Amino acid sequence: MKAAGLGAFAAGAGAFASITASRKGQAAAAADTALVRLSEKRRQGGRPVLAEAYGRPSPHEANVVRRVIPWMNPTRESNVSFTPLHALEGIITPNGLHFERHHAGAPDIAPQEHRLLVHGLVERPRVFTLEDLRRLPVHSRFHFLECAGNGALEWRGPQNNAVQFTHGMLSCCQWTGVLLKDVLKLCGLKRKAAWLLCEAADGAGYARSLPLEHALNGAMLVFAQNGEALRPEQGYPLRLLCPGLEGAASVKWIARIEVGDAPWMTREETARYADLRPDGKARLFTLEMEVKSVITHPCPENPLRRKGLQQLSGLAWSGRGRIVAVDVSFDGGVNWQPARLEEPVLPRCLTRFRLPFDWQGEELLLQSRAVDETGAVQPTYAQALSDKGETGIYHNNAITTWHVASDGKVTHVRLD
Ligand code: CO
Repeated sequence: MKAAGLGAFAAGAGAFASITASRKGQAAAAADTALVRLSEKRRQGGRPVLAEAYGRPSPHEANVVRRVIPWMNPTRESNVSFTPLHALEGIITPNGLHFERHHAGAPDIAPQEHRLLVHGLVERPRVFTLEDLRRLPVHSRFHFLECAGNGALEWRGPQNNAVQFTHGMLSCCQWTGVLLKDVLKLCGLKRKAAWLLCEAADGAGYARSLPLEHALNGAMLVFAQNGEALRPEQGYPLRLLCPGLEGAASVKWIARIEVGDAPWMTREETARYADLRPDGKARLFTLEMEVKSVITHPCPENPLRRKGLQQLSGLAWSGRGRIVAVDVSFDGGVNWQPARLEEPVLPRCLTRFRLPFDWQGEELLLQSRAVDETGAVQPTYAQALSDKGETGIYHNNAITTWHVASDGKVTHVRLD
């Protein structure tokens, strides 16, 4: 029996040797083909310098664009477009892909004509030009922006089978500007100062009340994103940027700041962006974005295309500080494994997490769960719904589940 066993092993080894030889032959043929293609490609030449004075992505990336949800189209001016999170890497959102949310379209403002009025409960009311503002100390900081309504449609069960639509009201840039606290210091706050009214120069007269404590906690008046001037749809030539707060607090095209002792109760903080409770009352000024994460590879737009090693990755963020951990579950939240957090890990900024895994065609229920430095843990849908109530639409930070089928197809499903 032993001898037969050894003989079988020897035959097996022989077969392995001949497979290796034929693979070596295939590899050599593939290398020859690649070299021929390379020299053909080189003979074609290329586009000249300044073919485009302002460069654009390769035409092969034409599908990587912002999108609107086709059936959700109030008006073209008051709408939202979503960032293609499934097609991005790292943590920075390219300026042309930053999500948009306008209430009356993006106005066209000449920078030399723009003014910022600061008045109300201040010792020295002032009108600032952009040049005036740039004389103050300038700072560049990485922060995410997320709409309070990101994921709003998913509260009552999956509505969108695409991470672009379930999570794409989320972007992250390096923002450059001056600190709001430095501007307020120049004007001199009066003792009763407790709230600011921040008003845009857009057609909606968009205005929001901001508690002074948030204004002093890293809020910026921003004129650049990712190294260049703000894009018109991001508030050119000047916007407010309130790190960690719901996007609607970061007023674009900002033209007026009034200091007062109480909130103004504008439409956009009462009828909108307030969290309706089951008892008919509403929570107002819920501004901080809570700890949240989502897997972007794989996701419905990025199915698993072959068996073997997979490079799972996603994004995590918290409006309250740094991300300290992201755990990933392959079985719908029964077992969890820690993902690797990729540097840099910055406060109130997107953090990229990664976790390679082997896949042999088994069904998966993929989830990610983030923890921030305050100890807050991303909730399940059951926990989030019991906390916020089913009448709310804003601040959905619940754990999202992707079902991976045996053919690699990924579908958004609900697990409580
Ligand atoms: Co809110």
